[in-house]
Amino acid sequence: MTQVFFGKIIHTKSFDEFEICTNGYIAVDEAGVIFAIGQESEFATWLTKNANYEAAQVERLTPDQFLMPGFVDCHIHAPQVAQIGLGLDMPLLEWLNTYTFPLEAQFNDNKFATKVYAKVVEHTIKAGTTLASYFGTNHKQSTVILAKEALRQGQRALIGKVCSNFNCPDFYVETTANSLADTKKFIEEIKDLNSELIKPTITPRFAITCTKELMTKLGEIAKENRLHIQSHISENVSEVQFIKSQYKCSYAEVYDSTGLLTSKTVMAHGVHLEDAEIELLRKRGTSVAHCPASNTMLSSGLCDVVRLIKNGVKVGIGTDVSGGNSMSIQDAILRTLDVSHHLEFVKKQDIKGNGSLNVRQNSYRPIDYKNAIYLATLGGAEALSLSNVCGNFMPGKEFDALIVDTSVYPLHNYIADDDKGRKSAELQLFEMVQKFIYVGDDRNILKVYVKGKQIKNNCIC
Ligand code: GUN
Ligand code: FE
Repeated sequence: MTQVFFGKIIHTKSFDEFEICTNGYIAVDEAGVIFAIGQESEFATWLTKNANYEAAQVERLTPDQFLMPGFVDCHIHAPQVAQIGLGLDMPLLEWLNTYTFPLEAQFNDNKFATKVYAKVVEHTIKAGTTLASYFGTNHKQSTVILAKEALRQGQRALIGKVCSNFNCPDFYVETTANSLADTKKFIEEIKDLNSELIKPTITPRFAITCTKELMTKLGEIAKENRLHIQSHISENVSEVQFIKSQYKCSYAEVYDSTGLLTSKTVMAHGVHLEDAEIELLRKRGTSVAHCPASNTMLSSGLCDVVRLIKNGVKVGIGTDVSGGNSMSIQDAILRTLDVSHHLEFVKKQDIKGNGSLNVRQNSYRPIDYKNAIYLATLGGAEALSLSNVCGNFMPGKEFDALIVDTSVYPLHNYIADDDKGRKSAELQLFEMVQKFIYVGDDRNILKVYVKGKQIKNNCIC
């Protein structure tokens, strides 16, 4: 059935292009593809030329609601939801060995996996994630269960069976042959699901737990099948030092020499990348998933997103559950803004000998909430090489969207009648967006759509 949405609309066209429409429409065709977007005042004329939309299902938003593109989570470990909030007083490598590897090893139990993965998909949809790039575990079978859950609940997802054959505990390590054979079987089983929404992703955990041979062969499989690739890069100083001492080259060069840096690769973190590595990522078209919550929780460092973007690297946002402690990309937007402001302070403040602060002149401009919304939507889709399919409301893209309601707790969209007269419709919409980003949460995400199909409904009606 065709659908038409009337009301306030926001979306982005690039890092610096934020578009709003205070009184618009979006027409969505039977296949869930956006057919047209425009001003409501032009709709009647438009309809005369598009008579097949006369019988469309109509959704008229209230004055307190707006439509925005769905959130994109560029990096999340689905199994780690079972330990969310634990061990965040540890640095990365200690946290992996103490908590994460023992937990992930339990996903050889398909019943346990089914229980956890059903909840992960349910909660991320509730938080407005319409597209997620998921890490599973080393286990092929339970990672297929994750894919089936995303499919059952209607979420768009890139899903990877994790590969690790080296430097891991005995209870959670693969042989090279098994890792490759299971990866190939995994790709076939995901293809058999026959869904455009679910794609297999080649997922070497990181260069510390994969041999060069395994990474090279995984690079070949990705190339042969034109698949997405995801991994971690330069998250933590000890990790970077380990890689440099092992390989005698930079972290990015290790991945490049194994064919893993492609235009369909997303690398999580990139906190400690050197200039030459950033240039290499740019040349390869490889993107970075910025994971601010995790970078803070595991004391990894401050990632300078502005530096990456200025140097031509695509950036999206990741929750990195459970290095990150929230499944919400809206929360990750706030963490992104925090980190960007903290970087600004670091660049502008010197601690003087007497402990007081000395403010320096510096032109560093932190990102703002509109830039962050771009990173969480279109930027994420670009980082995952899916911006031809989703990320904003350009005609031809699939309708992945959220209806946000600013009249629902914890927001109060109180506007005195006087103010309604004084403030332009544009300003009122910008203020609704700010309230949602800075104060709102998943209770304000009323409905979630993927490819035109509603997959969450908070409506009390
Ligand atoms: N590096 C390798 N594995 C992981 C993981 O599970 N989480 C994070 N944050 N970093 C990693
Ligand atoms: Fe991670």
